Amino acid sequence: MPIRWDAEAREAHLHNDRVSYIFRVLDTGWLGHLHFGPRLDPSRTYGHLGPQGAGAFHNRPADPALLEYAVAERGDFRMPACVVEQADGSTVLDLVYAGHRIIRGKPALPGLPATYAETDDEAETVEVDIADGPSGLTVTLAYSIFRDVPCVARNVRFRNDGATTLRVRSAMSSSLDLPDDDWEMVQLSGAWARERHVVTRPLAPGRVSVSSARGASGAEHNPFVVLKRPATTEAAGEAYGVSLVYSGDFLAEAEGDSFGTARVRIGVDPENFTWTLEPGAELVLPEAILAYAADGLGELSDAYHRLYRDRLVRGRWRDALRPVLVNNWEGTYFDFDEDRLVAMASVARDVGIELFVLDDGWFGERDLDDSSLGDWTVDRRKLPNGLDGLARRIEGLGMSLGLWIEPEMVSPRSRLFAAHPEWAIGVPGRPRTEIRNQLVLDMSRPEVVDHLFAVLSDVLGSAPITYVKWDMNRNMTEAYSGALPPDRQGEFRHRYILGVYDLYARLNAAFPQILFESCASGGGRFDPGMLAYAPQTWTSDDTDAVERLAIQWGTSLVYPLSAIGAHVSAVPNHQVGRVTSLTMRAAVAFFGVFGYELDTTVFTDDERREVADQVAFYVAHRDVLQRGRFVRLKSPFEGDRNETAWMAVSDDRRHAVVGAYRVLDRPYAGPVRLPLRGLDPDAVYRVTAWPAGTAPHGELEGGLRGGDDLMATGVVVRPGPFDPRPHGDFQALVLALDVVEEVAAG
Ligand code: DGJ
Repeated sequence: MPIRWDAEAREAHLHNDRVSYIFRVLDTGWLGHLHFGPRLDPSRTYGHLGPQGAGAFHNRPADPALLEYAVAERGDFRMPACVVEQADGSTVLDLVYAGHRIIRGKPALPGLPATYAETDDEAETVEVDIADGPSGLTVTLAYSIFRDVPCVARNVRFRNDGATTLRVRSAMSSSLDLPDDDWEMVQLSGAWARERHVVTRPLAPGRVSVSSARGASGAEHNPFVVLKRPATTEAAGEAYGVSLVYSGDFLAEAEGDSFGTARVRIGVDPENFTWTLEPGAELVLPEAILAYAADGLGELSDAYHRLYRDRLVRGRWRDALRPVLVNNWEGTYFDFDEDRLVAMASVARDVGIELFVLDDGWFGERDLDDSSLGDWTVDRRKLPNGLDGLARRIEGLGMSLGLWIEPEMVSPRSRLFAAHPEWAIGVPGRPRTEIRNQLVLDMSRPEVVDHLFAVLSDVLGSAPITYVKWDMNRNMTEAYSGALPPDRQGEFRHRYILGVYDLYARLNAAFPQILFESCASGGGRFDPGMLAYAPQTWTSDDTDAVERLAIQWGTSLVYPLSAIGAHVSAVPNHQVGRVTSLTMRAAVAFFGVFGYELDTTVFTDDERREVADQVAFYVAHRDVLQRGRFVRLKSPFEGDRNETAWMAVSDDRRHAVVGAYRVLDRPYAGPVRLPLRGLDPDAVYRVTAWPAGTAPHGELEGGLRGGDDLMATGVVVRPGPFDPRPHGDFQALVLALDVVEEVAAG
């Protein structure tokens, strides 16, 4: 059994082949943390790792003790896991052990996205109740250990078993104590068009944190941090990951204390949160996923990739290969009609593209971004035959149709707003701030969710639509619901996200054939919560190949390639004006869910041939590029940031695709070799360059190399000062590696 409860020691030991998570009931009744890290012998107990005896808390502060879910005001002066205000205004709590249950598998979280076990032998869960007598508060801490990944899922429920109302002011999903503070915190931060860049800060006495108060997880920070040893690299050293399966305001915070221990907590951001718990009521908080890797960030990412790809994403698209798409947004913006779209689709089909996505502007009277959000009826001026007429023509070409929607928003210039101004969030008597000329619908109101489900069901049922891009183009201001009483306004932001999840879940259930891609002005809500409903995410509005190296590298720290939407767009690039080759753009976009975002009708004959070759390459290697193990080789955040390299390797290690990129050319520079990782050292691989004939090293072209050789000595990505090929900036090298049967057998 992966969870052992030692009754005598009152100790829980969760384990799989790679990790152990151990805690016990201390003499005070509090839960003491003993270990999360390399697997330890589950038949033994580990009380010696925690505070000794009752004396540890008697007449001295509990600061140095490692605790599972610490409260304030009882001698632990570090950041607490929760703060709950009681009827008398006090916030003192004494959460002591009150019982536990071990459950096979992993229970679902009502209304919230969560990882799951497909069969009961894939995971086991222990739920521990800790209760405070005077207030009647019971907190249930749930821990699930997965059989196949070095991850522990944590979840917290608050229940009011008392007779008076409680106000939950802060309720973290996880708080993890580590016995030393020799860590750096890695966070994924940025902004619109430069999302999820890797930022590393040393842990020092005091706190470091990232958070969002935007009503969405945000482009600025991601609900994910890593604590790694200063010497940890991609391939070696310890790292802990802390990720929140949530799409709203979050806080991820680490603290080094004066006794040299560290605490990292993650959960709903307490800044704008309070929740009223009437007697008998329960509050379920989002799930946090903790991961441990002994061998580097690559191993940590692999754990998250597998868990999120295989046991967070749901539905028939989870395991299916994703179509190569073309999206008309950057090709036409709002300026299109049926014939223009069909002309674009027709070229797309000729070059092998499988799905045509119609972006913003197909509904109401939306010729600019200043109207019609909320009016989800087809604009017959542009599409006289409706979505169905367009879909039939697209299907006639042998493609399928995808559609853009932005359900959570309303334009002040819309029929919906005229009919229901109260459905837009805002404080009565105060102006509402418009961003991108739009307001946010109150998704905490069940009637709004019901209305959206009805109108969107009509749209999606009106034509054979196989894909939906669900956008969300502004963050929240004046976050206030006219439907909630004043003392419950602190619940609004969480209730909003629960409404979004509800609508997603209902549309998923009603339209199981539809592949959803989430989007928020690009990657402004790229989080695990969204992945439970939308298996892929539009990574960034920035499609420039150089910018994408950093964005996709950072994103891949926690999210799998199957989630990372990556498109080739036109040059000069619409976001940064850079001109890169079609090859460079595709070579970067290959490492994700590949597509195009441009006007295909303006391709030259050469470009058509090139694009057809790109699509054919991607389709041939789609399995490894969407579902392979992603191995980061050379970081765009290190050194002179001029070179990036990565690869995807199939689980059986028989196929791999390598991408190596150089931003600026360097005159008279020496040769560069790139050692690969993750291959089978005993296998022989055929190395093929894409596009054909571009290998910098003549002998590599179609050459055979041992896996051991490729990993020890590497491939030459730059031959040196006398490279006869044309020089230039923005160079990419793509290599396909395939095990050669006969040689391998011999
Ligand atoms: C923002 C998205 O990120 C873009 O791809 C596009 O869909 C626009 N919104 C449309 O308004």
